[in-house]
Amino acid sequence: MVIAPYPLARTLDVVGSVGHRFQVWGRWLAAVMGGPQRLHRHRSAQRARADARRELLSMIQLGDAQVPPDGGWVAGADFLLLLARQVLTQRPGLVVEFGSGVSSVVIARCLQLNGHGRLLSFDHDEGFAELTRRRLRRAGLAAEVHAAPLRPGIAGYGGSWYGHGELPDAIDLLVIDGPQAWRQGQEESRGSAAPVAFAKLAPGGVVLLDDAARPGEQRVAARWRTEFPEISFGVAETQKGVLIGTRAA
Ligand SMILES: C[S@@+](CC[C@H](N)C(=O)[O-])C[C@H]1O[C@@H](n2cnc3c(N)ncnc32)[C@H](O)[C@@H]1O
Repeated sequence: MVIAPYPLARTLDVVGSVGHRFQVWGRWLAAVMGGPQRLHRHRSAQRARADARRELLSMIQLGDAQVPPDGGWVAGADFLLLLARQVLTQRPGLVVEFGSGVSSVVIARCLQLNGHGRLLSFDHDEGFAELTRRRLRRAGLAAEVHAAPLRPGIAGYGGSWYGHGELPDAIDLLVIDGPQAWRQGQEESRGSAAPVAFAKLAPGGVVLLDDAARPGEQRVAARWRTEFPEISFGVAETQKGVLIGTRAA
């Protein structure tokens, strides 16, 4: 099912970034009204985001035109930085991503800098998949971005999961930043990544789950930890939390 054809996806993207500006001002206003301590915490978080973004852009040698500012639907700058470091140090041959967008541009650029590696990215919506393809093209980058409409969750996980068909074997890096699990009833959607993809991880393969600080992802992570003893899990303290799993080599 196509929910947002490309022009609508593009409009939602623009509306989302304008909405994000209001969110930023709202957070600033709440911090100012919350007193000096809250304002101090707000300024530190803002500085950390700006530092992460500066480091990311200099590491991958791209600018604002190719990597729009984080917030709203785009992954946080600290997650994108962690992702870039992971791809540049691990040098994966195959990356599979669920939830395409600016993160796909970052991964594809790091693979380009590595000089090898393939990115296969899925989005639930053809409009957003096309938005990602255009962003990649404009940046001179290559990746396979597929629309994979949502189906009911798998193996008892609630919510929805992508109808992506058979995945390739020997996945070195699995990046999970979709579907939109903040919606009511969708909170555990990202759990379905495990039954479809964990058995396909190469030895030493790595899984990154964004938004790991949310209650739904925490429930998912607790189940993964008991059901997949061959994968060791840890958490990176980004602003939204990232669960990092590494399969035994
Ligand atoms: C958390 S977002 C994925 C973000 C992506 N990893 C990135 O870094 O840009 C999950 C999904 O939300 C959808 N999405 C992206 N921008 C949107 C917008 N402005 N409004 C509604 N949905 C959006 C896309 O289908 C995307 O796959």
